[in-house]
Amino acid sequence: MGSFELFAVGNINLDITFKLPRMPSLDENIRSNETWIGTGGSAVNYSIAVKNLGYPIYLVAKAGRDAERLGLLEFLQNAGINVSKVSKSDQMDTGKVVVLLLMDSDSRILITYRGANDLLGIDDIPCNQGKSFYHFASVNPELVLAFIERCKEHVYSYDPGGWIFVNPYGVIELSEYVHILHVNRIEFLNLQERTKIDVTELQRIKGVPEIITVKRGDEGAFLYWDGRKYSGHLETSVQIIDTTGAGDAFDAAFNMFYIETGNPLIALKHAIAAGTLKITRIGSSSMPHRNEVSDLAGKVYVSRINSS
Ligand SMILES: Nc1ncnc2c1ncn2[C@@H]1O[C@H](COP(=O)(O)OP(=O)(O)OP(=O)(O)O)[C@@H](O)[C@H]1O
Ligand SMILES: [Mg+2]
Repeated sequence: MGSFELFAVGNINLDITFKLPRMPSLDENIRSNETWIGTGGSAVNYSIAVKNLGYPIYLVAKAGRDAERLGLLEFLQNAGINVSKVSKSDQMDTGKVVVLLLMDSDSRILITYRGANDLLGIDDIPCNQGKSFYHFASVNPELVLAFIERCKEHVYSYDPGGWIFVNPYGVIELSEYVHILHVNRIEFLNLQERTKIDVTELQRIKGVPEIITVKRGDEGAFLYWDGRKYSGHLETSVQIIDTTGAGDAFDAAFNMFYIETGNPLIALKHAIAAGTLKITRIGSSSMPHRNEVSDLAGKVYVSRINSS
């Protein structure tokens, strides 16, 4: 597909992760033996994953008035992310998330303070002149649509995340304007059930979005493309440490290998490999590197399945 300038638009957070032996009860002081502090927020996780795959990327997000004290932007800059398009609120603090992971389980508890993330507006998102690829991660579909109407001509990828539960019709409307739609299986089911609209049927009729992926945790992922449905999964199982950010690792690898090869099936293999590698390490932004992703992609099995 040629070369693009890359943008990741969405949340920036400070994440604090604790691994716990079990669920604590009220008034209990429970000990954790493994913790992680670092950057989080889907746009940040995606940016780091893209960077680790070998591409420069701009992060577009809203940090808070405590950003300097937290050192988040400096950290990201040192990690090779271009933070010149990150704006700062002087009213709210930076988003923060506490992640509680339970030992030997893929269940977790998230405590979220959205803070400055809620203030990201259309004027904070730069409309680039050159050929660009924008990925919107957990951004309000109305904001994404307004931006696309203003900026047009670029390639757009969208992962609505929790916005599917807030504004499912907005996601359906927007899906006609994006090239790639990434959702997980729960979001996918909710989208169909709430709107009674089958987004894959729309895709078959209208030809947009060109690509839909449905992330399915330990069962891999589905890909809807060119009127066909494919399933991808890894034959081997891995040890689950922390599933936070697996979806972002998936989106990043899918988009980069799609840009690189123009082949969604190759992109799917790398995406599943990247998602799987992410869950083997603690921390929302602990993203795999290109060589690891390429090695594991060779073990991902993709097959065409009959659409239903
Ligand atoms: N428990 C698991 N076992 C094996 N692979 C997994 C597991 N969880 C996630 N993955 C891999 O990561 C990919 C993306 O994860 P998932 O399906 O959880 O997406 P998501 O719900 O969007 O994630 P997120 O929680 O980051 O939003 C999956 O398609 C799969 O390849
Ligand atoms: Mg997700």
